[in-house]
Amino acid sequence: MSFTADRLLLFGATGDLAQRMLLPSLFALDADGLLAPDLKIIGTARSELGDSEYRNFARAALEKYLPAERRGQMAGFLNRLAYQTLDATALEGYAALAAKVGTPERGLAIFLSTAPSLFEPTIKGLQSAGLTGDTVRMCLEKPLGTNLATSREINDAVAAAFPENRIFRIDHYLGKETVQNLLALRFANLMFEPLWNAAHIEHVQITVAETVGLEGRVAFYDDAGAIRDMVQNHMLQLLALVAMEPPAHFDATAVRDEKVKVLRALRRVASNETVTGQYRAGAIQGQAVPGYDEELGKPSDTETFVAIKGHVDNWRWKGVPFYLRTGKRMPKRVTEIVIQFRCVPHSIFAGKGATMQPNRLVIGIQPEENITLSLMAKVPGLDREGIRLRQVPLNIAMPDAFSGAVRRIAYERLLLDLVEGDQTLFVRRDEVEAQWEWVDAIRSQWDADGLTPKTYTAGSWGPSAAIALAERDGVTWHE
Ligand code: BG6
Repeated sequence: MSFTADRLLLFGATGDLAQRMLLPSLFALDADGLLAPDLKIIGTARSELGDSEYRNFARAALEKYLPAERRGQMAGFLNRLAYQTLDATALEGYAALAAKVGTPERGLAIFLSTAPSLFEPTIKGLQSAGLTGDTVRMCLEKPLGTNLATSREINDAVAAAFPENRIFRIDHYLGKETVQNLLALRFANLMFEPLWNAAHIEHVQITVAETVGLEGRVAFYDDAGAIRDMVQNHMLQLLALVAMEPPAHFDATAVRDEKVKVLRALRRVASNETVTGQYRAGAIQGQAVPGYDEELGKPSDTETFVAIKGHVDNWRWKGVPFYLRTGKRMPKRVTEIVIQFRCVPHSIFAGKGATMQPNRLVIGIQPEENITLSLMAKVPGLDREGIRLRQVPLNIAMPDAFSGAVRRIAYERLLLDLVEGDQTLFVRRDEVEAQWEWVDAIRSQWDADGLTPKTYTAGSWGPSAAIALAERDGVTWHE
């Protein structure tokens, strides 16, 4: 049912995500007149706060996390906020919460930014208080389980109260402008699609490198590790967008139908196709940083880096490896996708001494939003000693191409889509489950092989085995 919600209920309203992302995003939407004037935002969490205390809390978060140029008059936004204290595990508190939410005119959107262990009791509580009807949407933040079985439990618990067309699972990478731009690049241009297959693409690389370490998320991260924290969700979504068939429309069903086909076509990864690592003390951009075990305060077998050689077993991608790598404490923060084309079938310049390099498309997702296509060009000259060819970049910097356009953070887009009811950029149950299935198989392989992470120095590109993983196929990671 299509409606623009006039109530937004935020669980985990005093948490880290609320402070860093949700409140600043809602503020920015409000400042740009994108929220319905009657939208009320009700925060809930365990902390004992009243409405005005929560507004002060929100103001402090905005002052801390909003970039200076986006700060402005806050009073109007803060007036939208209300707060209800709740122990999400205790059924008796939900009646008061329902009273605080009141009766929406059009509908209610609920955002669960809490530990997954609270999802089930929360949904029971919402049901008991009549907060799950036809005009209620449910939005869930990751982690959605720790494997396929626990993800199914969460999905079942949510499905007991909400049909799939009212469940919004967040993968914040889908809210990034540059990730959506991948769809524009592929499907709004004619020239790429005929080449976008095994006949013309030699391999694909997807890198998500971060310079940060544990960031104080000790318990969560040590239980998750890089494969569950980054690959299961963000990286597989990027892979699906790169590899999917053209959907017939840009809508939730068509786009997600195509993505899930790719996720289901992922081949089981062999033992020698993954490398895991854990960082040790080192330096990043001249700054000394401690090792993972030191940050954690104990030894651990959790991987902070993973590299995988993946395969999509279908006609389009037969024989094209997808090299994925992600890690904490890498030398720089970069998310990028590299499409490595094959060599031309025959070089007419070979007899003139020229060497050729195959074309490469590099799609920078963050921090730089660049699209670079490397082309071969002739080095100017009279060529008496032979023709010389050199790779030159055709470079598009998105911020220059669209100067003046507001760059919005992922949650602005996703919160607005939630309130307005567009599921296109949210992950469907079958996608999450296909993602887990693939990741679970890798993790059981690690267990069977007794694999433990190799160490790497903070500020490096991971263990040398990760370099070897690509090198043995004659591939060099793009840096
Ligand atoms: C989160 C992970 O999902 O994504 C974090 O839990 C990671 O560990 C973050 O740092 C990266 O997001 P972004 O938008 O900074 O690339």
